[in-house]
Order: sequence, then C-alpha cells, then structure tokens
Amino acid sequence: MRYVCSRCIGVVGCGQMGSGIAQLAAVNGCEVWLHDADSMVLSKARESISSRIENLVLKGNLTKEKGTEAIRNLRCTSNLEDFHSADMVIEAIMESEDVKKKLFVQLDNIVKSSSILASNTSSISITRLASVTSRPSQVIGMHFMNPPPVMKLVEIIRGASTSDDTFNATKSLAERFGKKIVCSQDFSGFIVNRVLMPMINEAFYALYTGVATKEDIDAGMKLGTNHPMGPLELADHIGLDVCLSIMKVLHAGLGDSKYLPCPLLVQYVDAGRLGRKKGVGVYNYSIVHCVPFFCYCV
Ligand code: CAA
Repeated sequence: MRYVCSRCIGVVGCGQMGSGIAQLAAVNGCEVWLHDADSMVLSKARESISSRIENLVLKGNLTKEKGTEAIRNLRCTSNLEDFHSADMVIEAIMESEDVKKKLFVQLDNIVKSSSILASNTSSISITRLASVTSRPSQVIGMHFMNPPPVMKLVEIIRGASTSDDTFNATKSLAERFGKKIVCSQDFSGFIVNRVLMPMINEAFYALYTGVATKEDIDAGMKLGTNHPMGPLELADHIGLDVCLSIMKVLHAGLGDSKYLPCPLLVQYVDAGRLGRKKGVGVYNYSIVHCVPFFCYCV
C-alpha cells in the first residue's frame, strides 16, 4: 500500500498539544476533525484555535483567505465515529499506556483500513500501542514539541513493525506543517525526552537539596547555556504531571536508578502543582508582582 498525501486528519484530545496540532493541520490545508469527550473543553479549544489563527492573519503571517479556510477546515466532535474518513489520526490524550491502548482499539475499528494511527506520546512504547491494533505496520509516533505551532521539530518514532510507507507519509505530513524531523528508535523517552527529562529532574534535585534558588537554577541554565527557558520554568510549561510520568517511563523502561523522579517533583504533583495550566507549579502564576520596568512570577 502506498500513502501519497494525508488530506483529512483526526486529532484526539484538545489540550495544549492536541489543539496546537489541529491548528497546524488546519492552517496547512488539511481537513481536521478535533475530538474531545468533553464538549465544553472542545468549544474552548475551538475558540482559542480560531483566535490564534486570527492573530496570525493580523500579524501578516497568514493571508485572510487562508485564515478563513483554516477556520472552515476545523470541525469539532465528541463522537469518534466521525473519524471514519480520516487518512491519519493523531492522538494527543493523557500519558497513560492503558488509556491510549483503549483508544487505539476503538480507532482501529472506526477508521478506514488505509488510515495511519499516530501517537503524540512523549515516551510510551509505539510498539506496544501498535500491538493492540490489527494494523501495527500503520502505527507510528509523531511527537510534537510544545507549543506545536511554534516549535520547529517533530520527532518520528518507528515501532517494531512500522512500515516505510507509514514513515514516509508521516514525514511528508510533518514537512507540510513546516517542521524538521528527527527519527528515533522505539526506546523509552525517544531522543528529546531521554535527554531533556533527566536535566529537568536534576534541576528539581538541585532545588530539593538546596543547591540554589529556583530563580538562580533557571537563570544559570538560561543565560549560561542559552536555553530559552530555565529547566524549572520549562517543567511548568510542559506540566509537572507530564514530566513525572515521563521520568517513570524512563525508569521502568531503562531500569537505571538515575531516572528515579526527584521527590520534590513527586510532591508538587501530589499537591496539584502541575505548572502553568494550573496557575501554580514551581512558580506561582497567579501572583504577578509589577514594579516599574519589571514583572515577575513567584
Ligand atoms: N501556542 C501558539 N503560539 C504560541 C504559544 C502557544 N501556546 N506560545 C507562544 N506562541 C507564539 C507567540 O504567539 C509568538 O508568536 P509571534 O512571534 O508570531 O508573535 C511566539 O510564539 C513567541 O511567543 P512570546 O513572544 O509570547 O514568548 P517567547 O518569545 O518567550 O516564546 C516560547 C515562548 C516559544 C514558548 C519560548 O519560551 C520557548 O521556545 N520555550 C522553550 C519551549 C520548549 O522547549 N518546548 C519543548 C518542550 S519539550 C516538549 O514539548 C516535549 C515533551 O514531550 C515534553
């Protein structure tokens, strides 16, 4: 079977990642079905995607016609059956292997036989997700970085059975979205999180053991190594629950104690301090101090 072009894309989950992916697909001329079981969350996602597209038009990054077409291309649904015509489905739901497997079983029964099932998982085995479907050669990892419309990379992960056609179709879709791709074998954390998460975890250890303040840890890495965000600020941006679940996958999959999550990271997640999306993580985003020329979070 040869895949030429994915015209109709289904996206499952409309959190930061799913709505960013749906925006990218709509702006790049795909018909998009965006699914979330929660209709309130879905309508909020539609509003925020539309306003981001309108901003792109206002800033001159997208023509008015393309902006209108992109908004028209985006359809929201709470019924997975609407994905029957999708050429490719990208799931961006919670990082739980069991929940993702259940979804893949459902999707496998709904989408046409030629469709590709892609996961935006940040660390879970593509081979194991593929194993619950009847089409393991058409299952692949398509890992976007947060925020998907801005970050230049898509990491593509081939499961043990992923075919060359599936890989090529996924690569050409990522390139159509204007992304550079890197290709990873299917081992826990792939490339980006295998390297990034231990750094974030180590930053938590530095804070936990009193090496320095959160501000100094972040400033050290931002100014000292030219990262756009310090590791603790980045953890808040990604979500501390996501960071913790990736560390657990690294630890379980690679079996080395160096991947044990820092107790402070665990404690913050237990306390519901999940990062920016909750208004509090390492930093508190609800308290913004403003003094002349300077605003900061505590
Ligand atoms: N969605 C869409 N666009 C967004 C956005 C979002 N959530 N957040 C910011 N933007 C856009 C802004 O509209 C702005 O666009 P223009 O240049 O056209 O005006 C642009 O991004 C820059 O935004 P800001 O000026 O507000 O802020 P900034 O310059 O500080 O950039 C940032 C924000 C792009 C997030 C930058 O801080 C950054 O690159 N941080 C690092 C992010 C990163 O490392 N992400 C990867 C995390 S790892 C991951 O995602 C993998 C995983 O599995 C965990």
